[in-house]
Amino acid sequence: MSAAGLADARRVLARCDELAAVTADPPRLTRLSLTPEHARANALAGRWLAEAGLSTWIDAAGSRCGRLEGVRPGLPAVLLGSHLDTVPDAGRYDGILGVVVAIEVVRRLAASGRPLPFAVEVAAFGDEEGTRFGAALLGSRALAGTWDETWWELCDGDGVTLAAAFEAFGLDPARIATAARAPGDLVAYLEAHIEQGPSLEAAGRALGVVGSIAGALRIAVTATGRAGHAGGTAYEHRRDALVAASEVVVAAERLARETGGIATVGRLSVWPGAVNVIPGRVAFSLDLRAAADAVRDRLWSAIEACMAEVGERRGVTFATTLLHAAPAVHCSDRLRAAVAAGIRGTGDAEPMVLFSGAGHDAMALAAVTEVAMLFIRCHDGISHQPAESVRLEDVAAAVDALEAAVLALA
Ligand code: GLV
Ligand code: MN
Ligand code: MN
Repeated sequence: MSAAGLADARRVLARCDELAAVTADPPRLTRLSLTPEHARANALAGRWLAEAGLSTWIDAAGSRCGRLEGVRPGLPAVLLGSHLDTVPDAGRYDGILGVVVAIEVVRRLAASGRPLPFAVEVAAFGDEEGTRFGAALLGSRALAGTWDETWWELCDGDGVTLAAAFEAFGLDPARIATAARAPGDLVAYLEAHIEQGPSLEAAGRALGVVGSIAGALRIAVTATGRAGHAGGTAYEHRRDALVAASEVVVAAERLARETGGIATVGRLSVWPGAVNVIPGRVAFSLDLRAAADAVRDRLWSAIEACMAEVGERRGVTFATTLLHAAPAVHCSDRLRAAVAAGIRGTGDAEPMVLFSGAGHDAMALAAVTEVAMLFIRCHDGISHQPAESVRLEDVAAAVDALEAAVLALA
């Protein structure tokens, strides 16, 4: 590893640290889309892109973008990207590392003074996680031209609609279509990301190439029973929404294991929320994933059947709203070969091919161009919590590999 490569990686990690301080609830890192923290993160990324020599702008969905022209202006672009938003109480690398690595790569490409036969762009998406409005991949879906007009009425936890949040951020919902890129604008989309799983570390590898990404569904569920007195209501008269929801939560894990998918309930709220009142209403989230969409959909059907049975037996009504549906994505062979070539350049002769259970902006971009991903080892596979960590040497290798992958496409 060259001293210059390690210095670049140190800059990348210092920028991740700087971004980790841009949070709504210090010392925890929570940065949701279309918030003042999102604007501050966009400003930092904009400054770094400009310093690298790129022209920069914020698109109609609030994503920070930058562009380095190729041998002549206006050529289709290789797009490098990832996201700047986080889950609540997040780690500092999920998404963010991919953005900052991309900025480092374009800095090197610009500094080389050798223009490529395509432009190179960077997109730092403002909403991949879906933490604020429930629907996910908002920035990348706007860019891919698959924006869903029904999203405008989605509300955050404070009852602010997505449309109102756009306006508060200085964006015009009526202009959302201008964020969309045509297939002819793009040559490829490449995304670097921490693995969010333990495979690279277990194999003693720094980097891997993603073969495919799991399909996902996110569903908001409300169970409505009847509130009542905790002491005075016999079991045969109860319609306890929490006990009914709990049966479904436990069954979701069993059904996921049986079908080969993954189900997670990460949020659950109980009303009226008093020790001596039978819960009359429960709202919970359901996150379903599988390597194949058919498996994911079978899992969802099985959970729906379970809700019907539990609801009938307990006098509780389940209502569901589908908030997010992303099909499983196979990364393009051509781009996988470029990423693998990039990894081989770092000394790993046979790059590992990994499946991603986590969702990524690449899933959305697959609607408009070919996509591939470079995974970076993270300690113990830990992600979506503050203990996310990466090694300096791996980050240096990732910058080298992503730069080489772009050059391989030339
Ligand atoms: C994004 O991190 C997701 O997979 O939920
Ligand atoms: Mn991510
Ligand atoms: Mn994430």
